[in-house]
Amino acid sequence: MRLILLGAPGAGKGTQAEIISEKYNIPTISTGNIIRAALKNGTEMGLKAKSYIDAGELVPDEVVIGIIKERLAEPDCMGGFILDGFPRTIPQAEALDNMGITIDCALSIEVADSEIVKRMSGRRVCEKCGASYHTEFKKPEVDGVCNLCEGKLVIRKDDEPETVLNRLNVYHEQTEPLKSYYENQNKLLIVQGQQELKETTALVLKALSEI
Ligand code: AP5
Ligand code: MG
Repeated sequence: MRLILLGAPGAGKGTQAEIISEKYNIPTISTGNIIRAALKNGTEMGLKAKSYIDAGELVPDEVVIGIIKERLAEPDCMGGFILDGFPRTIPQAEALDNMGITIDCALSIEVADSEIVKRMSGRRVCEKCGASYHTEFKKPEVDGVCNLCEGKLVIRKDDEPETVLNRLNVYHEQTEPLKSYYENQNKLLIVQGQQELKETTALVLKALSEI
């Protein structure tokens, strides 16, 4: 399966991607996680991206398109993949189409802005592998420690309330138009994000089983 996950920041793309990845045995490609890893390792790309990511702005299209091109050429993507956080603009979606990659579906997880702001304040992420937790809704087995790799859980710099509001604006302006883009290709599926993580997962898996 070749799947795109759409949705506002904090809608639960990363959380659902982890579950779908395990169930369908396909890798998740999160441009956000790739950029944060580059930032941590101090690579040239990471340094270039830092000011954008910290301000909650999008990193320039050519940078993320380059990342995705390279990543999709790796052998583990041959049997399918989940794109979490890419494409995020129309030019990025067009670039993906121009790579000759046919997507099965773009699944949008819909959550109201007011709910997102509440959720983000409790998010914690693993500084090593990027897995996402929540202080209330998705607690790790051991406080402050990642279940998957035992990395330390930290607060993402761009989860400050002010930056979250900017990320939401950027989403509505630049990413939401992708819903029409994929609707026009007959590939859009919409799932309403639920209060309970498990309930969202049930809706997501049901939608995917029907494609
Ligand atoms: P990125 O890392 O992709 O961030 P994002 O899209 O803003 O999305 P998030 O990771 O914040 O949210 P999510 O939907 O994955 O939610 P999660 O599952 O963690 O991008 C960061 C930055 O990188 C961008 O701002 C940009 O600068 C740059 N970038 C990345 N890709 C780019 C691109 N293609 N082009 C240009 N720039 C790019 O869930 C959130 C929290 O809620 C968690 O704590 C979770 O446990 C909790 N939660 C999830 N579901 C539920 C539920 N149902 N009920 C209660 N809590 C829940
Ligand atoms: Mg994410």
